[in-house]
Amino acid sequence: MKFVVTAGPTREPIDPVRFLSNRSSGKMGYAIAEAALESDHDVVLISGPVNLAPPAGAKLVKVITSDDMHDAVHEEVRACDVLVMCAAVADYKPARVAKAKIKKGDEIFSLDLIPARDILKSLPRFRNFFVVGFAAETNDVEEHARAKLATKNCDMIVANDLSDPTIGMESDENAVTIFSRNGEIEKISRASKKIIAHALVKIICAKAKKVLTKNF
Ligand code: C5P
Repeated sequence: MKFVVTAGPTREPIDPVRFLSNRSSGKMGYAIAEAALESDHDVVLISGPVNLAPPAGAKLVKVITSDDMHDAVHEEVRACDVLVMCAAVADYKPARVAKAKIKKGDEIFSLDLIPARDILKSLPRFRNFFVVGFAAETNDVEEHARAKLATKNCDMIVANDLSDPTIGMESDENAVTIFSRNGEIEKISRASKKIIAHALVKIICAKAKKVLTKNF
């Protein structure tokens, strides 16, 4: 199968030297790309700025902003079987990017933010590739994950509970719950991101084969 995996954060520029971003390390997305390669799949890895070595054998597409990632995803999904949206894409971006460095002052300073384009929501409703979204939540994990499955039109949502600070973002370990469109729930208990990635690739392939009208 051909996998497109997104990983890492995006950076949303404020002025020539500043940006808004988040704590995503890219480790989970890179581990999924590696696990898919080790299972003999073709992999395109669309990555925001991270400090990780790219997995050998993947086509690496480097992006910075949520708009870059949006365009790269739309380009690469034209010939894919599975899209795994593991990246922590910005939800908001500055309404305007200042051309010159913003000067420091003594007054309260505020930025106008506008919603960034939601990449999952921008995908065609009817398509012949399997879509996996991620949900990093600090509370009501199941409720939010189920809502995302519907509103973002995903085949599967992988939820991780951020209320435990020792796993998930930046960590080498994770624990996830998988919610599928058909109502199935599967849990992968705490393990290294590499082990979780292998388990995820196996589950994704099995479900994608059932849903897609293609021969593999
Ligand atoms: O809405 P939230 O950001 O929590 O949703 C997370 C999921 O949506 C992830 O799969 C992420 O890659 C995707 N996402 C997106 N476009 C955005 C923000 C998040 O596709 N602008």
